[in-house]
Amino acid sequence: MFDEIKKRRTFAIISHPDAGKTTLTEKLLLYGGAIHLAGSIKSRKTQRHAVSDWMEIEKQRGISVTSSVLQFDYAGCRINILDTPGHQDFSEDTYRTLMAVDSAVMIIDAAKGVEAQTKKLFKVCRSRRIPIFTFINKLDRYGKAPLDLTDELEDVLGIRSYPMNWPVGIDGKYLGVFDRRKNKIELFAEDTTHGQVERVSEIFEPDDPEVIKRIGKENFDALQDDLMLLDEAGENFDKEKVDAGELTPTFFGSAGTNFGVQNFLEEYLRLAPPPAPHISSDGIIEPEDEKFSAFVFKIQANMNPAHRDRLAFIRICSGKFERNMNVWHAASDKIIKLSQPQQFLAQERQIIEEAFPGDIVGLFDPGIFGIGDTLTDPAHKFKFEDFPIFPPEKFARVQPKDTMKRKQFAKGIEQLTQEGAIQLFNQVGAGTESYIVGTVGTLQFEVLQYRLKSEYGVDIILTMLGFEVARWLKFEDGTKVTPTSLRGADRGMFVFDRNENPVLLVENEWSLGWITDNNPKLLMNPVPFED
Ligand code: G4P
Repeated sequence: MFDEIKKRRTFAIISHPDAGKTTLTEKLLLYGGAIHLAGSIKSRKTQRHAVSDWMEIEKQRGISVTSSVLQFDYAGCRINILDTPGHQDFSEDTYRTLMAVDSAVMIIDAAKGVEAQTKKLFKVCRSRRIPIFTFINKLDRYGKAPLDLTDELEDVLGIRSYPMNWPVGIDGKYLGVFDRRKNKIELFAEDTTHGQVERVSEIFEPDDPEVIKRIGKENFDALQDDLMLLDEAGENFDKEKVDAGELTPTFFGSAGTNFGVQNFLEEYLRLAPPPAPHISSDGIIEPEDEKFSAFVFKIQANMNPAHRDRLAFIRICSGKFERNMNVWHAASDKIIKLSQPQQFLAQERQIIEEAFPGDIVGLFDPGIFGIGDTLTDPAHKFKFEDFPIFPPEKFARVQPKDTMKRKQFAKGIEQLTQEGAIQLFNQVGAGTESYIVGTVGTLQFEVLQYRLKSEYGVDIILTMLGFEVARWLKFEDGTKVTPTSLRGADRGMFVFDRNENPVLLVENEWSLGWITDNNPKLLMNPVPFED
C-alpha cells in the first residue's frame, strides 16, 4: 500500500481557454503511452463550442465530457489528471476539482502571458498551498521574452519562479532547451508530424562544439548571458518553497509541437508530491492510515434520460478502497455500500475493484451525496474540513413558468443547492415565488434549467441580472445589516443567503467604492464571514 501511495501523482491543469490545456493533456498521454497518436481528444473539443452541443455530447456519451479523470502510468508513477472545465463550462466544479488534487500545472501562453481565468484558478491553488508547476506554452511561435514572462508571474500572480529549463535560440525559432538541473542542452529535430508523435531530439553537453555548430555563435552567447543572469539574479531552487506553493518550477515548451514536453513530464513527476495528508475533525489523516476515508468533490448529473443516475466523484484520502465495501457517510450518519464504483480512462467507464489514496472514483449516487461529504471506515468516524465557498459572479432570477409547480420547483432548487450546483439567495420581500441564483459561470444556468425540467418536470423563467459581484455584509460592532441600515442598498440588490446572512449584489468592484465610503463601519467579504 505504501508503494501504491508513493507512486501516485494527482493533479489538474489550470489555464485560460486556448492556452493549450487539451493539447498538453493529450501529449502527456502520448508520452505516457496511453495513446499512440495525438489528435484524438481534439475532435471532442471542436464539438464543444455551443452549450447545445455540450448537452448533445452528454446525451450521446451518457457521461459528462467534463467529468473525465485520466489515469495512466509513466516511469513508475500512476498519474491521475483531473479535468478542470474551462470555456463556457467554467463552473464551481472547476474550482472544486482543485480541492481534490495534490499539485497543479499552470499553462501560460507565451504570447499572452497570465490571463484572467488563470489568475482565478491560481488563487484557489494558492489558498490551498499546493505546489504549482508552470508550463509556458507555444514557444514555436512568437511570444514575450522568457524573462518578461517569469517577471509577469511574479508581478501578476505574486509567485516567484525557478526556470527548470531555458529556451535556446531566438523568439519564434527556438531550437531546443537547456536543462538547468542536468546541465544539458536538448536540441529538437524539425517537427514533421504536427506533433502527432514524439519529437526527436538530441542531448549534448553544454560545451560540446557541436552545439555551437548547430545553433550558431550568436545564439550560444545569448544563452550563456541568460544563464548567467538566472544564476546570479534569479531565485535559488528550494524544494520546501516548491512544496509550499511559494516557488513555481517553470518550464518552457510547446505542447503543439512536442517541444520540451518529455522533459517537463519527467521533471514534474520527480518533483510533484504524492498524495498529501488531509485535515479532519479527528486531526491529520495520513494517506498511509489503514482505515479508508474519502470526500466527495463533485457531483455529476447524468444528462441522458435513459440513465438517470448521478455520479459522485470521490477523492480517496486514506486506506484502500474496495468494491462493495461499507462506509460511513458523515452527512447522513448512515452506512452505505459502495457497489458500483467507476473509474475513467479517457471516456471509457470501467467498474473498478480497488483504488488507493490519490485516486478518484465515481460512485453511483441515488441522491444522497453533497459536495464536501466525508466517507470513512465505519470503525473510524470523522469529518474532513468543509469545502470553501467560491465567490459567485453570475446571477439570475429564477421562477417556475407554471405557478402550480411551485412545490416541485422549490424541491428541485433545494436539491441542486444542497448538491452544490448553485448558490441560493432570497430577495427581501420576494417570498418563495422566485429565487436569486448565483454561480461562478453561466453554463450552470443552462444546467439548472435542464435539470429542473428533466428531473422535476418544471419549466423555469430565467432572467439574468447584471450583477457580477457579491459581498457578504456585517457591521463592525456585530449588529446585523438590514436594507434600511445600509446606505446605498438600492445601488445593487440586497439579498439573504440560505443562512439568512445579508449579501449585497452589485455590478462591479467599482460600485463597491461608494458603499464603502458611505458606510464606514461596514465589513464586506466575497464569501460568508466565518464566525
Ligand atoms: P485549451 O484546452 O487550453 O483551451 O487549448 P487547446 O489545447 O485546445 O489549444 C488551443 C489552440 O492552441 C489550438 O489551436 C491548439 O492547436 C493550439 N496550441 C496548443 N499548443 C500549441 C503550441 O505549442 N503551439 C502552437 N502554435 N499552438 C498550440 P486551434 O487553432 O484552436 O485548434 P487546431 O486547429 O490546432 O486544432
